Amino acid sequence: MDLTTHYMGLQLKNPLVASASPLSADLGNIRHLEDSGVAAIVLPSIFEEQIEAEMLHRETLTAVDLEHSPEASSRLPVSNQREPQQYLDLIRRAVEAVDIPVIGSLNGTTEEGWISYAKMIEEAGATSLELNVYFIPTDISLTGRDVEQRYLEILRAVRKAVDIPIAIKLGPYFSSMGQVAMEFVNAGADALILFNRFYQPDIDLTEPRLLNDLQLSKAVEIGLPLMWIAVLSGRIDASLAASTGVETSEQVLKYLLAGADVVMTTSALLRNGPRYVKELLAGTVSWLSKRDIESVSQIRGLLSQRNFRNPDSFGRANYMKILRGYDYTGSGTGN
Ligand SMILES: Cc1cc2nc3c(=O)[nH]c(=O)nc-3n(C[C@H](O)[C@H](O)[C@H](O)COP(=O)(O)O)c2cc1C
Repeated sequence: MDLTTHYMGLQLKNPLVASASPLSADLGNIRHLEDSGVAAIVLPSIFEEQIEAEMLHRETLTAVDLEHSPEASSRLPVSNQREPQQYLDLIRRAVEAVDIPVIGSLNGTTEEGWISYAKMIEEAGATSLELNVYFIPTDISLTGRDVEQRYLEILRAVRKAVDIPIAIKLGPYFSSMGQVAMEFVNAGADALILFNRFYQPDIDLTEPRLLNDLQLSKAVEIGLPLMWIAVLSGRIDASLAASTGVETSEQVLKYLLAGADVVMTTSALLRNGPRYVKELLAGTVSWLSKRDIESVSQIRGLLSQRNFRNPDSFGRANYMKILRGYDYTGSGTGN
């Protein structure tokens, strides 16, 4: 069975990628992920604001403590003394420890930060770089174009600064996803990741108060990324990575059929551990084998929009057709 795939210029042994999360902050987990068969690993993002806050905290502590004791700096927490060195060390050690590509991930706050950390990640040996823009426009005076410009400015600045391939991790809230996807490709993105899963606080009704816990994703969430991958597949000159909602190999296969070059997973690995990669791959291979399909490339994009004679299959007309056949009697099945 030939599972190989190409992702932003890299040849991968299969389409399964461990996406950014605290799981890949640990060298032991990174090794387990490789042993279990994952094709590439994205490290957790380095967050510029976190580093700056820690450095500021350290400077403040040093300033206060130095008044009382000259050895103050030696008493500071170890982690604070090593940022961002700690992250760059993780890249170096991960690159040494495994044979699969190690992808760095960056979340900056200033243009200078995006550029300088991107350069450091490249120099530390990351195979490629993910830009985790993670921007939620809660300032309600911002226009859609303002948001797009922010992504584009970051991408252009980093593109100029580094030579390694760049993937941009997108949110799903652009008003014209196709057009903006093309702009990102023209600005130098080698891959688009659809989608980032933005934190959405819930409300606890007992107090009531905001609930700040993080929910892992469910398979039902693949709808939006699946649709946009199907629409973009074969239409843009960049790789497509699917992210969100992989619970089993079924979602991996659906994303491949829609046209994803790679399928990323975080929640499933946090839920089941790094060895769950084996199960995801085995399920994918089993489905393909049962149908005498010999390679992943045979199914990639088979159900993308451009492979439908009627492109409305993904649009309003199809929705209208479904509504016409919908069972409104409350019997529960839909149609
Ligand atoms: C605990 C946790 C930490 C994460 N940390 C990062 C991160 O550092 N950088 C990033 O780009 N995405 C991060 N993500 C998002 C994931 O990489 C992924 O895009 C998202 O969870 C959707 O995929 P999933 O449905 O397979 O979980 C994190 C997700 C979780 C659950």
